[in-house]
Amino acid sequence: GVEKGDRVVIYMPMIPEAVIAMLACARIGAVHSVVFGGFAPHELAIRIDDAKPKVLVTASCGIEPSRTIAYKPMVDRAIEAAEHPPSAVVVKQRPEVAADLMEGRDLDWDVAMRLGRTSPAGVVEVGATDPLYILYTSGTTGKPKGVVRDNGGHAVAMTWSLANVYDIGAGDVWWAASDVGRVVGHSYIVYAPLLAGATTLMYEGKPVGTPDAGAFWRVIAEHRVKALFTAPTAIRAIKKEDPAAVHVGEYDISSLELLFLAGERLDPDTFAWATQHLGVPVVDNWWQTETGWPIAANLRGLEPMELKAGSPSVPVPGYDVRVLDPDGAPLPAGSEGAIAIKLPMPPGTLPTLWGDDERYVNSYLSTHEGYYLSGDGGFIDQDGYLYVMGRTDDVINVAGHRLSTGAMEAVISQHPAVAECAVIGLADPLKGQLPRGFVVLNAGVEADPDDIRSELVAMVREEIGAVAAFRAVDVVGGLPKTRSGKILRRTMRDIADGKQAQVPSTIEDAGVLDTLTPVLRQGE
Ligand code: COA
Ligand code: AMP
Repeated sequence: GVEKGDRVVIYMPMIPEAVIAMLACARIGAVHSVVFGGFAPHELAIRIDDAKPKVLVTASCGIEPSRTIAYKPMVDRAIEAAEHPPSAVVVKQRPEVAADLMEGRDLDWDVAMRLGRTSPAGVVEVGATDPLYILYTSGTTGKPKGVVRDNGGHAVAMTWSLANVYDIGAGDVWWAASDVGRVVGHSYIVYAPLLAGATTLMYEGKPVGTPDAGAFWRVIAEHRVKALFTAPTAIRAIKKEDPAAVHVGEYDISSLELLFLAGERLDPDTFAWATQHLGVPVVDNWWQTETGWPIAANLRGLEPMELKAGSPSVPVPGYDVRVLDPDGAPLPAGSEGAIAIKLPMPPGTLPTLWGDDERYVNSYLSTHEGYYLSGDGGFIDQDGYLYVMGRTDDVINVAGHRLSTGAMEAVISQHPAVAECAVIGLADPLKGQLPRGFVVLNAGVEADPDDIRSELVAMVREEIGAVAAFRAVDVVGGLPKTRSGKILRRTMRDIADGKQAQVPSTIEDAGVLDTLTPVLRQGE
């Protein structure tokens, strides 16, 4: 019953059926919204209520190194919690777990496929500006942003970027070791390689632990992969387990010509290690769910340039990248500020947020007239190379997963003992960043702070999901605030990172910082 314009939520592990479901939607003009499997039922419910799907497609389980995760009970809980539940659920039964199906609502994937074979659906024509998909990503509040992708501009951007940025064409074997629930998966596991006629590889595994730190090199050797695209975190995980890269020598990876890294800042150590041990150019590229394809990169298929550690190189054609001061004036080379893109944005980038034009304008276009605000800070050097140093808002990046500290705060503040709280992202050598919470308890609470800590950790895992990796929380006497009550998260972050903290003159009680500083600096 799905028709052009209807939404379909896809909550699946890394199995081919996930891609088949996405492409089935594209074929009939339906709008897919893939939700990453690491999110808990509550987060799935929020996305269901925003997208209001007619159908949800899932599988009986996902396979993680430490456990098999039954998806169907989570889907059932999300649907129960949702105000706009789908009318049907299609379930791919995997051999590891058999999901219970609800009579009248749930349909077995294989049964549906058999029915479909007798009357295949025809191709439905869509306009270039009709939506192809919605992909939810973390904003600064608990409500995720539904990034909309259109059809025409997207196809242009995918086809152009795969050839010109990644140097991949028809017949090449290409491996984006990401997840279909992320933008890298949408763009470079699914659409770009298939539009270009390249072979795309799907991998349901991790860089380490499935079974060892040689897994990536084995897959490259087995399939003669020309270029690998992954996150710096994955390389750091491999480097941690196999610092001398012994596993690299166990496989013939001579087919590999390029390694692309994105999703978080590529630190110079990881860049140096990968360059030394793989012997191929290691190419950083910077972009976001919102843009769908690189904003800055070293254009391997068009004009390869010198690679500089710490920089994703230069703006990609189509993006006019500027670094702005707080008043919106362009800054000279070497000065750090807000990274913005001068309008218009190129094809393929988000035309709006699903059902919320106003939030789109407020989030991205209102701060500086005529610019799209990326949310990242950084600078451009004398040679025109961009350096992206990190988010300037309350979005953090944990092992390549983009997360909202605001969403974690919303969960924590539901605890009856908590008066107020702040969650900030702190540097971590493996995952890039890890969230850390600070809570002030209500007066008179007598519970053991250790119990409260474990309850808060469990609540975040339960409500947001294991990917949040929220494990550290401190009970403190007070949080630094302005006189108008705004918590000074930036100041806390700077202190924790050992930087010279800017303490605003509007701070209510500067004494709070004296007691908080030793706590923030713990574990540095
Ligand atoms: N479905 C269900 N649960 C998931 C999940 C999924 N799709 N993905 C992750 N999780 C769970 C994990 O099982 C883990 O649970 P645990 O706390 O019970 O162990 C938790 O979420 C955190 O997972 P992860 O972020 O994968 O951390 P890790 O410590 O298990 O592994 C790395 C560390 C570095 C190996 C891993 O983060 C990794 O492979 N990162 C690369 C990310 C990537 O490829 N990004 C691509 C972007 S371009
Ligand atoms: P996502 O929307 O999940 O792809 O996350 C986008 C965010 O990840 C960006 O706004 C950056 O903060 C960060 N990011 C992605 N790629 C890079 C990169 N190459 N260098 C630095 N930060 C990056």
